Amino acid sequence: MINENLMNSFPALKRSRAGKRPVYLDNACMTLRPIQVIRAMEEYYTQFPACASRSTHWFAGEVNERVEESYKQIAKFTGAKENELVFLKNATEALNLVANSIQKFTSETRKIVVITDKEHSSNTIPWYKLEAKGIIKLVILETKRDGTFDFEKFVDFMKNYGDKVILVSTVWVSNLDSVKFPIEEIIEIAKKYGALTMIDAAQALPHIPVNFENLGADFMAFSTHKMVGPAGGFLIVKEELMEQLEQLSTGGGTVEDFNTKRNIQFFKGRARLEAGLQDYAAIIGSAAAANFLKEVGLKNIEEHEKELTAYALELLGKIEDIGILGPKDPEKASGIVTFYIKKPAVSVEERDVGEAMSDKYNVMVRTGRFCVYNWFNAKGFPTFFTPIRASFYLYNTKEDVEVLAEAVKEAVDKVKWMPTVDVNGW
Ligand SMILES: Cc1ncc(COP(=O)(O)O)c(C=O)c1O
Repeated sequence: MINENLMNSFPALKRSRAGKRPVYLDNACMTLRPIQVIRAMEEYYTQFPACASRSTHWFAGEVNERVEESYKQIAKFTGAKENELVFLKNATEALNLVANSIQKFTSETRKIVVITDKEHSSNTIPWYKLEAKGIIKLVILETKRDGTFDFEKFVDFMKNYGDKVILVSTVWVSNLDSVKFPIEEIIEIAKKYGALTMIDAAQALPHIPVNFENLGADFMAFSTHKMVGPAGGFLIVKEELMEQLEQLSTGGGTVEDFNTKRNIQFFKGRARLEAGLQDYAAIIGSAAAANFLKEVGLKNIEEHEKELTAYALELLGKIEDIGILGPKDPEKASGIVTFYIKKPAVSVEERDVGEAMSDKYNVMVRTGRFCVYNWFNAKGFPTFFTPIRASFYLYNTKEDVEVLAEAVKEAVDKVKWMPTVDVNGW
């Protein structure tokens, strides 16, 4: 349940500056960590700070056991099998790992990779680079003006070109406006035409119940630092595809044996893809984060965010000269409210609004393009346009939303004298 007790678990929320508490609304970038996660990591550093899987001594035995147990717990949390997980630096590395392996799956007749114009740069730039080398053909599906997935266009495209598509790689929940794409249906259509699927679940897994097995996707990427865990990420890859993935780096921990004749015997499974010594504290901390979220309940988190989103939409909606990007219905998108001030002055210098809100109210939001440049450029926003993103999580409260609205109101009031601008009809 979401209550005060739960909020007390987050030490960063107890901080104060100029007599005011922090109002942390940048959760789509990185969430705060509860004491349970910090303690789990501390335990590693204070009790058994050794390497897993290679040494056979006392500390190594303990860390090995904890790391193996952690993979099991993370697998349970994500609905994946334990041997389908690969621990990486972040979701970006997970997406790159698959992109880097795409040649293992393409053929002369199947070279198309389908993404949308609402992808994070981490699910866009790797494909641009592969397209430039002639390895794939990239198709970018345009999303609708309200930020939703254009399912009809997708079905139509697949009807005509589905047999040439090797991979459909799409975000599940958008980091721009928290709009959810119909992921089950997208996977079903992709499969119908024999295409692989990769789901960018960086904004899904922390906020809604996710089960990899039930979804039937081939790959899924997520970040642990967006789900109250330490910096890190995982790629989930279907068991039967694991051995086809290309290593991003190689060396220690990946090989069983090699000799001067250049014969290499690689390990099977994730060890081949997790080169070098691993961040064991982060793996253990990620499991603690998964357990924390499980205990709170993803359904409870989802409901809580919906409530905060509705309240934010209500309060921001009352402020003159504020526009909302994305749906105004928390049933369609919840967890993130992205809005803008319809005046050019506050946005001339990017970050002004965000900095001002942080300086005076301790309100921490994100301003800019949120790494979704394609979407902003395709929709033709003016250069002065600087959206502000408030992203909520389980420890945020209605009072946080009220402080946000107060801070926004002040920002608008400051530029009252400026003319209101029609931002391309938005
Ligand atoms: C939708 C989405 N995909 C991918 C990423 C990249 O995640 P990471 O920071 O773990 O590399 C982010 C980060 O904000 C994101 O929001």
